[in-house]
Amino acid sequence: MIILGFESSCDETGVALVCTERGLLAHTLHSQVAMHAAYGGVVPELASRDHVRRVVPLTRQVLEQAETTLQEVGAIAYTAGPGLAGALLVGASVAQSLAWSLDLPAIPIHHLEGHLLSPRLATPCPEFPFVALLVSGGHTQLMRVDDVGQYTLLGETLDDAAGEAFDKTAKLLGLGYPGGPALAKLAEQGDATRIVLPRPMLHSHTLDFSFSGLKTAVLTRLKDAERQGQADAQMRADLAAATELAIVEVLVAKAATALEQTGLTRLVVAGGVGANRLLRQSLAKRLGKRKAEVFFPPLDLCTDNGAMIAFAAAQRVQRGLVDLAGQGHGFDVHPRWELAAL
Ligand code: KG4
Ligand code: ZN
Repeated sequence: MIILGFESSCDETGVALVCTERGLLAHTLHSQVAMHAAYGGVVPELASRDHVRRVVPLTRQVLEQAETTLQEVGAIAYTAGPGLAGALLVGASVAQSLAWSLDLPAIPIHHLEGHLLSPRLATPCPEFPFVALLVSGGHTQLMRVDDVGQYTLLGETLDDAAGEAFDKTAKLLGLGYPGGPALAKLAEQGDATRIVLPRPMLHSHTLDFSFSGLKTAVLTRLKDAERQGQADAQMRADLAAATELAIVEVLVAKAATALEQTGLTRLVVAGGVGANRLLRQSLAKRLGKRKAEVFFPPLDLCTDNGAMIAFAAAQRVQRGLVDLAGQGHGFDVHPRWELAAL
């Protein structure tokens, strides 16, 4: 079965075609980063309006790329939450009306389920069970994943998400939006050992995280340096490197503890921060020593995209978790939605 999937939960419009037998056929993506950059963050109303503008052309494009017609599509998937209410409603209403007009089932998908199953689009594909480290702009969670739809929360952030910590620190350093890639780039010119920042909750004996204190520590260092006339380009690069290292060290340590506590040997990393090079290298190094395996989504599928939504729906269909005959076309979105509640 071919599934057409829509992602519109935040600032990326993604459309994809995934076949339950042949895998990913094609995906198209429009990022609104340039539009929101002027405001230093996502403006929800602008995001919704841009999704409206992009979704139909991207759908035409993805069908062309896969040399497929709407008549060959067997089901339509969309992100139903969590995310920005208005943005979610664009994808949900387009998917549901298209499904209604074509007499197809529509499948609502949890955005984080899309992220955490997306490493299964890569080769080698991680087998179940595994521990998932979900690190996006809004979430930092460790989950035990026993199968599609079987998720147990092991730990999560008590305040800021890892991506948020990157974004907020980047803002303090005067870097553009989104902050993660910008901070990582600046960190390449810095020395992470010159400034020591706290590793929040590193020794807390739980699998929870806390990143909100980090931005305060960075702000204090920056203000001190400014007062002493030392806040030059090198100091800012050192601070970026120290921030990146502090976040990465906590993520790596907690992920390793999660594997230890569950006795599992596979770690899957998903979400935008999964694109971070230092995180990828550090996890591979640390887990390699423990003879555990680490899996990442393909780099272009780390941040939000339609492929992960269509793919999550495909895996649900394959396991018989979707009632294809009983799907109506009324719909709702869930701006807040616990993955463990699935
Ligand atoms: O998963 P995602 O695309 O969107 C959400 O669902 O939130 O994640 C976006 C987050 C942002 O906070 C962004 O700064 C961060 O991922 N990010 C990175 C990198 N690329 C994206 N953080 C650190 N290093 C990167 N290379
Ligand atoms: Zn996301």
